[in-house]
Amino acid sequence: MKACIAALAISPLATRVAAWGATGHEAVGYVAMAFLAPNALDFVQTSLGSDYNKSLGVAGPWADQIKSNDAYDWASELHYVDAQDDPPSSCSVDMDRDCANGKCILTAIANYTSRVVDDSLTEDEQQEALKFLDHFIGDLGQPLHVENKELGGNYIDVECNGKSTNLHSLWDSGIINVLLDGKDAEDWAADLTKRIQSGAYASLADDWITCADPTDPLRRRGLSLRDDIWTFLESRAITPLKCPLEWAEDANSYDCSAVFTYEDGDDLCEGAYYDDAVETVELQVAKQGYRLAAWLNVLFDGETNL
Ligand SMILES: *[C@@H]1O[C@H](CO)[C@@H](O)[C@H](O)[C@H]1NC(C)=O
Ligand SMILES: *[C@@H]1O[C@H](CO)[C@@H](O)[C@H](O)[C@H]1NC(C)=O
Ligand SMILES: [Zn+2]
Repeated sequence: MKACIAALAISPLATRVAAWGATGHEAVGYVAMAFLAPNALDFVQTSLGSDYNKSLGVAGPWADQIKSNDAYDWASELHYVDAQDDPPSSCSVDMDRDCANGKCILTAIANYTSRVVDDSLTEDEQQEALKFLDHFIGDLGQPLHVENKELGGNYIDVECNGKSTNLHSLWDSGIINVLLDGKDAEDWAADLTKRIQSGAYASLADDWITCADPTDPLRRRGLSLRDDIWTFLESRAITPLKCPLEWAEDANSYDCSAVFTYEDGDDLCEGAYYDDAVETVELQVAKQGYRLAAWLNVLFDGETNL
């Protein structure tokens, strides 16, 4: 009997579906490629090689593709942090409350940041670290990867253009599929990249890669991504970095302002909900792509270079 209970306790309650669908992850990776500094670009191209056409865009979905491989079961809980808040009325992320066992997307980003620049590892291990970073920095921007409610929305049935889906899947891929209507991730990413370089996102992008220290109660101290990463690399204790914690809070805030704001019976691929969702998804994918580039630039070129 004891053995049975133990076995039940460790078996997952439900298999979580993919994060940003493949398209979302590809787009994050392609956006990042446009902003890599020379050494970061060289590392990425060499490490990913012809298996991934030397591209973070192609490699982005890898960490979801391995979910069907039992050897990688340990990694399935690293795609999210289960914020135990109560959207839409209250949104928050708290490490002690939400990542108590030390295994969540925030500790994973710390681990693979340390490993990707660890030359004592094999090339395969460094490539794995790069692919996990590519993917997890993407997932961190998906509001339902920073949410515990109803298994990150997996248990909530909703409609998209008359078809049944669930809220999580809608935000991973449903909204993106309606928006792109057949256009591919690379074209979408090129469009988002242009917006960062000279369009609607140009005035916002600097703020995407600086943070207010979330561990400072007054949140007045600005913190550069460079200082966050360099301080971390001095100790390499697997504790979350400060900027990703703030980015998690940023993504989680959309659970209150956009994700959980529907009324029963609404079709979520129509009207104001859909318009807000598209705006949020495009912004979050652009942000995470830009942040991924900044991250790798600090690691390999010493500065964000942006
Ligand atoms: C591989 O990358 C090259 C250069 O960026 C690009 O022109 C080509 O379309 C890519 N091929 C595939 C299959 O993604
Ligand atoms: C760090 O990553 C390695 C390789 O994927 C994994 O074996 C290890 O358990 C991770 N460590 C932590 C603390 O997550
Ligand atoms: Zn994922």
